Amino acid sequence: MNSVRSIDVVRYDPDRDAAPHMQRYTIEPGHEDRMLLDVLGRIKSIDETLAYRRSCREGICGSDAMNINGKNGLACMTNMNELPQHIVLRPLPGFPVLRDLIVDMTDFFRQYHSIKPYLINDETPPERERLQTPEERDQLDGLYECILCACCSSACPSFWWNPNKFVGPAGLLQAYRFIVDSRDRATAERLDNLEDVYRVFRCRTIMNCVDVCPKGLNPAAAIGHIRSMLARRTV
Ligand code: SF4
Ligand code: SF4
Ligand code: FES
Repeated sequence: MNSVRSIDVVRYDPDRDAAPHMQRYTIEPGHEDRMLLDVLGRIKSIDETLAYRRSCREGICGSDAMNINGKNGLACMTNMNELPQHIVLRPLPGFPVLRDLIVDMTDFFRQYHSIKPYLINDETPPERERLQTPEERDQLDGLYECILCACCSSACPSFWWNPNKFVGPAGLLQAYRFIVDSRDRATAERLDNLEDVYRVFRCRTIMNCVDVCPKGLNPAAAIGHIRSMLARRTV
């Protein structure tokens, strides 16, 4: 479907605008404009002032997350054939807007770094590498694929209200990814870091995070596992 589309985009330049406003672009996508990101590129070619992030175009870098017709997603993974004639694009909800579709992700990445997203293991490393059994490696499936796009945390009301205190679904998915890694030796330290009324327990199991993840991941399940571990702590 390559009919004419009307695309409303929230525009906001804090240096010039008193408040955000909507700007409409009328575009007839060509056959090469398969994805929403392609169409954004076409808009950019006629209005270079439009600001948005993008890099890989392949659903890997996580930089072009935005709110598309009311649902968070990646522009490069959104097929134009699946969108209606009228499209509304907004920046990720709940995050401060820097300009147009670009949001400030400082709190998001602060929470991500707070869970120490790297292996902790002070034991003398083996000569070649720290091996895992296939079963141990399987534990990481559904966790390691996260591209930190923030679609989930931006859809989470608990994160909107407490971005400084609640780690949020993306950070907690990654916290669990390192907790279950057989090569990591900091499980107790990681659980200590999360045992707090806000950091994990602010999750209200609303499940928005699961609905919007463009990689099909389940942060709510990871949060549930962490909660169970905290409830039945032996480390
Ligand atoms: S399940 Fe928890 S983390 Fe996910 S959106 Fe709901 S409150 Fe947020
Ligand atoms: S869990 Fe999914 S939605 Fe959340 S940051 Fe990772 S890839 Fe994005
Ligand atoms: S541009 Fe990299 S995920 Fe979309």
